[in-house]
Formats: sequence, C-alpha cells, structure tokens
Amino acid sequence: MQPCSGMLATNYRGPSRIRVCEKPEPVIEHPNDAIVRVTRSCICGSDLHLYHGLVPDTRVGMTFGHEFTGVIEQVGSGVQNVKAGDHVLVPFNIFCGTCFFCQKELFGNCHDTNPSATASGGFYGYSGTTGSYAGGQAEYVRVPCADVGAVKIPSGMHLEDAVLLTDALPTGYQAAEMASIKQGDTVAVFGAGPIGLFAAKCAWLMGAGRVIVIDNVEYRLEFAKRWANAEVINFDEIDDMTLHLKKITDWLGPDSCIDAVGAEAGGSWFHRVTGVFMKIQAGAPTALQWAINSVRKGGNISVVGVYGPTLNMVPIGNVVNKGLTIRANQTSVLRHVPKLLEHIQAGRLSPKDIITHRIPLEEIAEGYHIFSNKLDGCIKTVVIPPSAVH
Ligand SMILES: NC(=O)c1ccc[n+]([C@@H]2O[C@H](COP(=O)([O-])OP(=O)(O)OC[C@H]3O[C@@H](n4cnc5c(N)ncnc54)[C@H](O)[C@@H]3O)[C@@H](O)[C@H]2O)c1
Ligand SMILES: [Zn+2]
Ligand SMILES: [Zn+2]
Repeated sequence: MQPCSGMLATNYRGPSRIRVCEKPEPVIEHPNDAIVRVTRSCICGSDLHLYHGLVPDTRVGMTFGHEFTGVIEQVGSGVQNVKAGDHVLVPFNIFCGTCFFCQKELFGNCHDTNPSATASGGFYGYSGTTGSYAGGQAEYVRVPCADVGAVKIPSGMHLEDAVLLTDALPTGYQAAEMASIKQGDTVAVFGAGPIGLFAAKCAWLMGAGRVIVIDNVEYRLEFAKRWANAEVINFDEIDDMTLHLKKITDWLGPDSCIDAVGAEAGGSWFHRVTGVFMKIQAGAPTALQWAINSVRKGGNISVVGVYGPTLNMVPIGNVVNKGLTIRANQTSVLRHVPKLLEHIQAGRLSPKDIITHRIPLEEIAEGYHIFSNKLDGCIKTVVIPPSAVH
C-alpha cells in the first residue's frame, strides 16, 4: 500500500482485521457532490458481515461506515439544497432522487448509483457489490447526489439521535412497516440488536398488542424487556422455536414475524456449518426459517436481516402452503425521516437510548471486537473522529 496522508479512516485488512490509517482526503468528483466532515459515525450489524469476510468483493483497503452525521465542508457547483457549514445526517443509501425507483421512494433500490448490480442502489462503506463508495468511519466523506443525500439536522436535535436516523432507526421502522401490523396484532421480532430493538419499539407505535423478542444474548433480552416493553425468549432455552411460539399464541402463531438477524444467525449447528463456515449457501437462514414456520397462516414476514444473493435453505414450499406475504428490502432511509423526526421531537422515540459505547476513531478496531463478540453489554457503538466538533 502506498503511504498516504490527509485524514484518518478505517482500513479493512481482511476478515476480523480493521485498522485506522491515513488516507487522502476525498475531493469533489462531480458537480452534485459534497464533502462532509464527519461528526459521528456508528458500527452496524451489516458492518459485521463485512468484518467477518462474508460479503463478496469486500476489498482490502476499503473504508467502512454507512451511518454518519457531519458538517458540509464544500459543495460542487450543481448542489443547491445544502451549503458549507450545514450540519447534516446522511442516509446510508446513495440515490439519485429522480430515477423510476427513487420516484416511488424506493431510495434503497436506486437504479443509477450502483454500477456493480441492479438490485440495490449504492451504499456508503460497503463492498464492491454496492458500488465501492468510501464510508463514514473516517474524518471526511464524499457525498454524491448531495441535494437529496444529505438531510439538514433540525436545530436542537441530539447528534446521537441524528446519527441513528441514517440507518438503524429507519430500518427498524421499515421492518415494522413491512410487517403490516394491525391493531392488536402479535408481532415476533427475531434479533435484539439495534435493528430488532427499534423494530420492537416501532411495532408498538403501529398498533401491536403484543411484542415478543427472541435472541440468546441475555443482556440484550433484558434491554428489550425494559426498553421496548417486550416479552422475551432466549432461544438457547427452547427446543423447538416453532412449537413454542405457537404454544404461546393460542396455537395459531404470531400475526407477523420480523427477521432482524440475517446471515449470521445462531441456533442451528447445521446452518452455521453450511452457511457461515463452508459458505455453500448464502448464510445461516435459521431466523428466517423460524419466522416462516411459526407465523400464522396468512401472516406477514418482514425481512431486513441481510443475506447473500444466492440460493438459501429456506422452506419456500411452506411459504406457498401457508399463503404468506414476505416483504424484504434494504431500507429507503429518507422515506422515513420526516415521520421519525416527528416521533423523536414528540418524545415517543429516543433512539440514542440504545447507545452503549462511544469510542474515538483511532480505537475502532477495539470497537469492532467488542460489538462483534457481544462483550461489555454492547448494543450500539458511536465512533467519534478527532476532527469532530461536538
Ligand atoms: N435491510 C437493511 O437496510 C438493513 C439495515 C441495517 C442492518 N441490517 C441487517 O439487520 C441485521 C441486524 O443488524 P443489527 O445491527 O441489529 O446486528 P446485531 O449483530 O447487533 O444483532 C443481531 C442479533 O441477532 C441475534 N441472533 C442470532 N441468531 C438469532 C436467531 N436465530 N434468532 C434470534 N436472534 C438471533 C444475535 O445474538 C444479535 O443480538 C443484520 O443482518 C444487518 O446486516 C439491514
Ligand atoms: Zn447498517
Ligand atoms: Zn434513483
């Protein structure tokens, strides 16, 4: 690697190896770009899939980080909606705002920002499969399509609430939205990480009558019980998850099940070996399997947990026989920001409550280690670059 200078940024060195090094500061490459000085970033469960080497085309040298806030330093000649000095939150999707999909507010599926694939648009700090854009676990980031991709932070909003509006909270919200919850419904949420916790909280806002959260990390289940007012189940203590969920729902099954776990699920030795270690399928589909088999007939499945793109061992025949609706997507963050700002400002949601760790960018390797291994009560980690003003 060439010696470089300019700013501090994360540097992926291969599975379970992250460093911070000096990299050149980004520059305006297109008239619609802005350069943002990062004030806060986070580590997401999706970063763990990269960190563990499970996402194809994750290249050595990449700068991770798709959740960040910052201050606009510079804008290209075509940018009109933001200017130098504005404090902004940046949704993790990179999107044009005008294509067929953006017009339908499917910003996560923008057709024009990902030269590597058509399924999803571009994302910051993710693999080559989402466009190889540098991310926000750094001091500076280039923000393409800045007129739509940088949202001014309302004055008075806590920076930690703002940074959680770039991914984790909208993803939990969209997970609950895609679960099509009706008044009084029973909702089972698989995963008590940041996404599952926000999904549980948002399920209540959407009228759920009962919310059940499943995980096997005790401190997270405790948090889900206390903070999201959920019933909790430790899957290590249950022999048959499908049977158990049916048993506690009058033998019908939950009305909706949310998968907030994705490809690295625990709970099945066979899935772990084939999906995570041997990689002969696109991850361990254990949570998804439990969701499909336990949800009631005619129920809804909402999937925000991330899986690889190829064949997976999912009981698709059961989906057909039970007449299920499965909804899945990458989150279209911007679509949810106005409603979520309202909820935060009215005091119904306080996203920063889930932050357990605040670490300097220089110590991010330790941050990944703690989050990945679920140490020290970790739920959500905020990263603070040395150049941050707040
Ligand atoms: N679709 C999107 O736009 C989007 C956005 C953000 C995150 N994600 C994905 O959402 C998932 C969760 O993210 P996070 O930040 O909360 O991650 P996280 O790693 O903090 O949380 C995942 C939790 O799932 C638990 N778990 C493991 N196996 C389980 C099982 N079989 N049943 C129930 N729980 C199980 C783990 O113990 C952990 O607490 C990840 O796959 C991430 O990539 C998707
Ligand atoms: Zn994320
Ligand atoms: Zn678009």
